[in-house]
Amino acid sequence: MSLWWLRRWRRIENKKSPYRPVIMVTGCGSGLGLALIELLYPINQYRLVITARSRSIAKLKEKFPESDRIIIRELNVALETQRKNLIQEIERLWGGVDILINNAGISYRAVVEHMTDEDEFLQMQTNYLGPQGLTRLVLPKMREKGRGKIINVSSVSGMLAMPTMAAYSASKYALEGASEALWYEMKPLGINVVLIQPGFINSNSFKHVYYTTHSHPKKIFEGPYSDYYHHMTPFVEKMMRLSITTPETVARRILKAIQKENPPLWMAGTPDAVIFHLIRRLLPRRWVLPVLFSLLPKAKTWGKAYTRKRV
Ligand SMILES: NC(=O)c1ccc[n+]([C@@H]2O[C@H](COP(=O)([O-])OP(=O)(O)OC[C@H]3O[C@@H](n4cnc5c(N)ncnc54)[C@H](OP(=O)(O)O)[C@@H]3O)[C@@H](O)[C@H]2O)c1
Repeated sequence: MSLWWLRRWRRIENKKSPYRPVIMVTGCGSGLGLALIELLYPINQYRLVITARSRSIAKLKEKFPESDRIIIRELNVALETQRKNLIQEIERLWGGVDILINNAGISYRAVVEHMTDEDEFLQMQTNYLGPQGLTRLVLPKMREKGRGKIINVSSVSGMLAMPTMAAYSASKYALEGASEALWYEMKPLGINVVLIQPGFINSNSFKHVYYTTHSHPKKIFEGPYSDYYHHMTPFVEKMMRLSITTPETVARRILKAIQKENPPLWMAGTPDAVIFHLIRRLLPRRWVLPVLFSLLPKAKTWGKAYTRKRV
């Protein structure tokens, strides 16, 4: 068969059965996940698997009635059995997931010394191990079909770390590193890997921050780290309030990644993400941290009453 005939035959075949990708989104109970399914729900071309932890399921079912192209399922990304059961169900129902959007995430606010092993594990389980587990489960069907997309919601914290957010940054750096390696592994197989990197989003998600026993705001902070918390928490909240980017704006960026034939690995989720990327790339390495440190609120005074630093 000549190339011309082959292309024509493929076009006719495609028209007969248009691509109706199965999109699965994690963490749809609030914020970005909710904004994304609001955007995707009316698009008839998509079959949608809306997932969230149990407490959000009833609310989601009320707002987004299920149909022959919409299903809503409970999924705690940290639980392997739930991950496996759901992917098996989707394979039986629709032949597998075509586009996986790993959006669910949590963020601890605590200095390194105030974290415990359990806290570190929960952070990694939710933001890294869970998404990786889901990715491993959906890849076999994507490879079989010769196409698919893994879209991981990362963060500017995956390129620049901030004090009191070490564990969160570590989880996003892990996600970035693994996605970068996966990009190479999947390129020959026709599967795209995308990292959406939002900076500050104007949303209520700072209300969902996780604290450890020692970093909880209800405690009266004393000790060498009290200044860090007193300044970093309002600073991050202020930056989020001042941000012009809403969850809906980032959701539209994700839609772009869904629709683009060959999206790049890195996609900025907010305009400030572009600025942070340039700071990282253009400033000489030994300047990056001192410059950013000087921009943190009153950072030069932090821990002054406690430090034994030798001058
Ligand atoms: N907000 C920002 O400024 C910002 C900036 C950069 C990156 N991001 C990233 O964007 C993504 C979405 O965050 P967001 O801003 O929309 O925050 P959010 O409003 O707190 O939403 C996070 C969602 O993840 C869900 N979730 C948490 N743990 C889960 C688990 N184990 N299994 C399943 N779902 C779980 C939460 O469900 P529950 O309601 O059950 O807790 C919630 O619906 C995250 O990956 C976050 O790291 C956010």
